Amino acid sequence: MEYKYGKNQNYEDFSSGRVLYQVRGMTNFPVRLAQEIYGRCLEYSTKNEDIVLYDCCCGGGYLLTVLGFLNQDTINRIIGSDIDEEMVQMARKNLSLLRQEGINKRIREIHEMIEEFNKPSHYEAKESALRLREMLKKDMDFKVFQADALGPIDLDEKPDIIITDLPYGQLVSWTQDGGDMVDRLLDSLYEVAGEDTILGLCMDKKQKVKNEKFTRLERQKIGKRRFEILKKI
Ligand SMILES: C[S@@+](CC[C@H](N)C(=O)[O-])C[C@H]1O[C@@H](n2cnc3c(N)ncnc32)[C@H](O)[C@@H]1O
Repeated sequence: MEYKYGKNQNYEDFSSGRVLYQVRGMTNFPVRLAQEIYGRCLEYSTKNEDIVLYDCCCGGGYLLTVLGFLNQDTINRIIGSDIDEEMVQMARKNLSLLRQEGINKRIREIHEMIEEFNKPSHYEAKESALRLREMLKKDMDFKVFQADALGPIDLDEKPDIIITDLPYGQLVSWTQDGGDMVDRLLDSLYEVAGEDTILGLCMDKKQKVKNEKFTRLERQKIGKRRFEILKKI
C-alpha cells in the first residue's frame, strides 16, 4: 500500500508515556497508519469537516487522541468506548490533552517531574508537550463511556467515521468468546452507524470481515496488519 495521507515524518511527540498517558502492556497504534486510515475514510465520507469520530474499542484512547491532534480542521467531536472501565478512564485522560486545560495540566505534571528527577526524557517530554499545545486550534469536544461493543451500544448520535483497532492476541483479546467476533461487532456497529457512516477497521491477518450488511470500499495490507473500509449496504 502506498501512503496517501500518513506523512512520513517523525511522530515522536506522540510516543506513549511521553506526553500521552501510557497504558501498561498496551502497544501503540502506528501514528502514520492511523492518519492514513482516517484520511481514506474521510475521502469516502459525504462530509469533509465537522466530523464525529468514534472508536468502539478505544482502549486508552491513544488512536483517538493522536487523530484529534492531527486533524484539528476536520474533527469536531470524538467519542470512545471500551468494555474495560480502567481503559475508559485512561482514554478520558488522554483525550483531555486535546483541550487547553488538559494539556496545561500535563505540562505542569512534566514540570514537577523535571524538578523531582531532572531526567533528559522529561525535558524532551516538555518540548513535545509544548509542540502538541501549539497544534491545538480549539478545545475538542469528546465523550468516553463504558460499553461492550459486541452488544447494543447506547449512542444517541450517528458518527461520521468509526475507526477501531480490533482486539487480538493475549493482551487485548476480545473479552467475550464464541462465534465470529468481527461479525458480531459489525452487527452492533450496524445499529450505531448511519447510512453515510464510514468504518475503518484495523485487524490482524487472521480476522476476516464477512458481514453481509456492509459493503467493502477498500482492503489494504500493511506489515502484520490489515485494514478494511466499509459502509452500510
Ligand atoms: C487493540 S486495543 C485498542 C487500543 C486503542 N486503539 C488505543 O489506541 O489505545 C483493544 C481494546 O478492545 C477492548 N475490548 C475487548 N473486548 C471488547 C468488547 N467486547 N467491547 C469493547 N471493547 C473491548 C480492550 O479492552 C482493549 O482496550
